[in-house]
Amino acid sequence: MQKISVRGGKVLKGTVEISGSKNATLPVMTAALLGESPSHLKNIPYLNDIKTMAEVLRKLGSKAVLDDHELKIDPAGFNKFEAPYDLVKTMRASIYSLGACLARMGEAKVSLPGGCAIGARPIDLHLKGVEQLGAKVTIEHGFVHAKASKLKGATIYLAGPHGPSVGATVNVVLAATAAEGTTVIESASSEPEVNDLVNFLNKMGASIEGVGTSKLVIEGKKKLNGVEYSVIPDRVEAGTFMAAAAITKGDVLVKDANPGHLTAVIDKFRQIGVTVDVTKEGIRVKGGDNYKPADVMILPYPGFPTDMQAQIMALLLTVPGNSIVTETIWENRFMHVFEMNRMGADITIDRSHAVVKGGGKLSGAPVMASDLRASAALILAGLVAEGETLVQRIYHLDRGYEKIEEKLSKLGADIKRIN
Ligand code: EPZ
Repeated sequence: MQKISVRGGKVLKGTVEISGSKNATLPVMTAALLGESPSHLKNIPYLNDIKTMAEVLRKLGSKAVLDDHELKIDPAGFNKFEAPYDLVKTMRASIYSLGACLARMGEAKVSLPGGCAIGARPIDLHLKGVEQLGAKVTIEHGFVHAKASKLKGATIYLAGPHGPSVGATVNVVLAATAAEGTTVIESASSEPEVNDLVNFLNKMGASIEGVGTSKLVIEGKKKLNGVEYSVIPDRVEAGTFMAAAAITKGDVLVKDANPGHLTAVIDKFRQIGVTVDVTKEGIRVKGGDNYKPADVMILPYPGFPTDMQAQIMALLLTVPGNSIVTETIWENRFMHVFEMNRMGADITIDRSHAVVKGGGKLSGAPVMASDLRASAALILAGLVAEGETLVQRIYHLDRGYEKIEEKLSKLGADIKRIN
């Protein structure tokens, strides 16, 4: 089992290049199945989740070739509609095959994803959406089976108890592109990754209005074409490097990051006392000496993202005083807190609130990552802890961060991967 070893105390300086967005690439890859010709995707991050999605596409009969941050998807052989348990269990985004298979074949069979470390992760909204488009859905033997002789446009309200759903919006958008007539999705997710999917589909010939808003209006189309498309930069990777610069009181240019996707993060960093300059090349982050505690409320976009919750908590560990972090999206996304406390942090949890008493000394320790963003946050804490932090279970990290240890090391961090 590989581990990441970090020795704290280095001040990060220099430029880091941000990879393409994992969470935008996954739906875009699935959407490429809907074209009548191949698509050529660029700025693709080289990550395990992307390889898993390529495997899902191959299982469905299409070709998917990943080569040096580019991905060629030929949907000519797309004629199967089953996403097997072995793949869905390793990556929940395999559920996107539900929308794509329904759109192209009128039938989809996808293993039920089940919960994970951050929460129960139901798919009721995905199913409600496709049912309203006319699909009959049954659940048997751990599989969702959806069938529609004809998909018909409908007006669908898609929010759940925690607000809009990224995944449900993706599935309904995919299915609705092939439905007869007009589909209106009310309370659609407006996260940048969903907007990227919509932009990609529109480039393929779809007719989707309302990109970036909570109301998407989709006119079904008989034919979409494959296109060349470059995926947006990863805002969570960018935010993670912003936190690395701030936590070490360094000076880092996060190159190619899109500031428009990070408004809430930039605003919170500035409130804390971090200098954030938006330049033509990207986002430049300079640490300061007088950080102030903050109240961070996690909300759907354009609010502060849940995928940056653990990382800002690592930053708040270095800020004297009491900060509060409230997680409203995932019911169990504080697992990193227990590991941070083992490093000397003082964080208490009361239901969805975490109170961070920052400014104390952190000491390196062996720690266990519970999910992707928790892994990154433990590395961040390790950057300022005394001695060695040994992050274990880094397979989570490899799902979503491309060469994070190489990128941090280039900025001056004392970090290495251990076999
Ligand atoms: C996406 O997950 C991201 N994953 C997550 O990033 C991210 O944390 C999440 O959106 C929120 O921004 C990918 O893009 C691959 P949701 P998704 O459906 O689509 C509830 C990472 O670290 N809900 O928007 O699964 C759900 O339980 C990952 O990269 C229902 O109630 O999230 C949650 O409370 C982790 N019923 C909320 O909605 C449903 O049918 C938001 O979930 C679906 C969701």
